[in-house]
Amino acid sequence: MAEASERAKELAARHAVERYVRPGLRLALGTGTTAAHAVRALRARYPEEPFDCVASSRATEELARSLGLLVREPRRGDRFDLMLDGADEVAPNLDLTKGGGGALLREKLLARLSRQLVILVDASKLVPALGTRVPIPVEVVPFARPILEGELHEAGLRPTLRLGRDGRPLLTDNGNELLDLRPSSPVASPERLHGELKARTGVVETGLFVGLAERVVIGEPTGAVRELLGTGRPVG
Ligand code: A5P
Repeated sequence: MAEASERAKELAARHAVERYVRPGLRLALGTGTTAAHAVRALRARYPEEPFDCVASSRATEELARSLGLLVREPRRGDRFDLMLDGADEVAPNLDLTKGGGGALLREKLLARLSRQLVILVDASKLVPALGTRVPIPVEVVPFARPILEGELHEAGLRPTLRLGRDGRPLLTDNGNELLDLRPSSPVASPERLHGELKARTGVVETGLFVGLAERVVIGEPTGAVRELLGTGRPVG
């Protein structure tokens, strides 16, 4: 099962690189196992091309550099032609839950700066509504975390502090902590929930990606690949 899902992710990543990457593009690189497949596929397809890349995490940066890609820090005025990334949940209108790998802030920043955000998933990530399959991650400032934990608990969002392997609070690449929210029912309005969360002092970003994905490439266990556009309309 895990192997089939990994194969489907790799298939989606290879398809997206083949179809949407061209030499000379300015690229934003996502984070997670699927985004890693995309970085490897990119290098395999264009072994010599010096793409202009910014990565959404140290992990992706390390992987890309190890493959010989030139990864730089973000600059003032940066815009990207294309961002390739994974997701934890994809709603029918292509709203997303992201941040299972803890990189949601950098991912969202780069997604906002990208002309096209192409999301790569295996079919298990498709959900009728966000908050169905995974908790909703929220990146918070450590000083504010205990206060926010209390407030979000009161709001019925059942926050859990994400811990690292050492049992201590996991720190993001930005030195923040993560609260994973489990609302009692799927999220009716991701936009509203995102707004309510962002309005709380100490919340840095949420894993709700509303209206950002232009296209989702889905790898199927059968070996087929299909795509959804922002309207939820299948392509081709
Ligand atoms: C990283 O913070 C996440 O947003 C990932 O893109 C998401 O968790 C999907 O991860 P996988 O590709 O590993 O399933």
